[in-house]
Amino acid sequence: MNDPSTTETAKAATETGQAATEPELLRLLEMAHEAAQRAYAPYSGFRVGAALRLTNGAIVTGVNVENVSYGLTICAERSALVRAVSQFGPEMRVEAIAVANLNAAASPPCGACRQVLAEFTEPEAMVIFPAADGPRAVPFHELLPMAFAMRPK
Ligand code: THU
Repeated sequence: MNDPSTTETAKAATETGQAATEPELLRLLEMAHEAAQRAYAPYSGFRVGAALRLTNGAIVTGVNVENVSYGLTICAERSALVRAVSQFGPEMRVEAIAVANLNAAASPPCGACRQVLAEFTEPEAMVIFPAADGPRAVPFHELLPMAFAMRPK
């Protein structure tokens, strides 16, 4: 929790803009990092953690869980999301998302995770993740501007 690397990550995040200065968002990033320690990634060695803050105030974490049949792997973001729906039901809404990894690498949420998160995430929800040049925080609608949706014409 007070791991110097996560504290540094949090400090760096405050320098990247807007809502990354929100202390709760930085705390969420630390929780994602902490969760990543529980990842199951024996095939890629890439351990990812995600933390979702819900509008009801709950924080739900998830980790990537790989499988020997590689394509069956679930990402950290989706594992957190299915956990949140399972715990709180389909009315729950995500208001902030943090993603971290233990590999000191960039890891924005993958495209599949963005589409799955979109189902339950507010467009203005802030997403903080490790980018190539350090932690970045952006609103969800910037990560997935044209999510698939089934709406009548
Ligand atoms: N991974 C995630 O957990 N989240 C993402 O958004 C992208 C990738 C995981 C899947 C796999 O276990 C490992 O990272 C390497 O791709």
